[in-house]
Amino acid sequence: MLARPAKQFLDSKTSDYTGLVADLLRHPDVQYTRNIDQHKYHTRFEHMMLASKFAYYFATKTGADVKTCVRAAAIHDVWTKGMYSQPAVEFAKKIGEPPAVQQAIATHMVFNNPPKDKNGWVVAFADECAWGVETLELLRLSLKDILGFLAALSPVNLK
Ligand SMILES: [Fe+2]
Ligand SMILES: [Fe+2]
Repeated sequence: MLARPAKQFLDSKTSDYTGLVADLLRHPDVQYTRNIDQHKYHTRFEHMMLASKFAYYFATKTGADVKTCVRAAAIHDVWTKGMYSQPAVEFAKKIGEPPAVQQAIATHMVFNNPPKDKNGWVVAFADECAWGVETLELLRLSLKDILGFLAALSPVNLK
């Protein structure tokens, strides 16, 4: 389970964090990810936001560059397909993100291209953590759906 401070941070909306990504979140390509399903219960936009919040937390804990990590994580899956991160790198380049952000995005899928520095590891780990939280939530909500479905079929009221 998450340590309490991480959980509290993920639930909170700190102006500190929001200010670091506000311009990115307004970009139409980032907004478009609200329409892309990560899986049944989460969108890609939600995945990137969660990863970005994890990146903020880990960057502050490890002394990595907070702005680089948070911004890279916030756009790390824009236009990506499967294990191919290059479209997100191209997007970062197009909107003028510095090479450090581009590199952290390029190495977020560690098996293809391992991180080269601390920022890269923070973004990759934040992505994995977001994925882990989403998977747990997927299991929980799927189970709830299945139980609801069974309860509706049952002649006995299970609710
Ligand atoms: Fe990815
Ligand atoms: Fe991701």
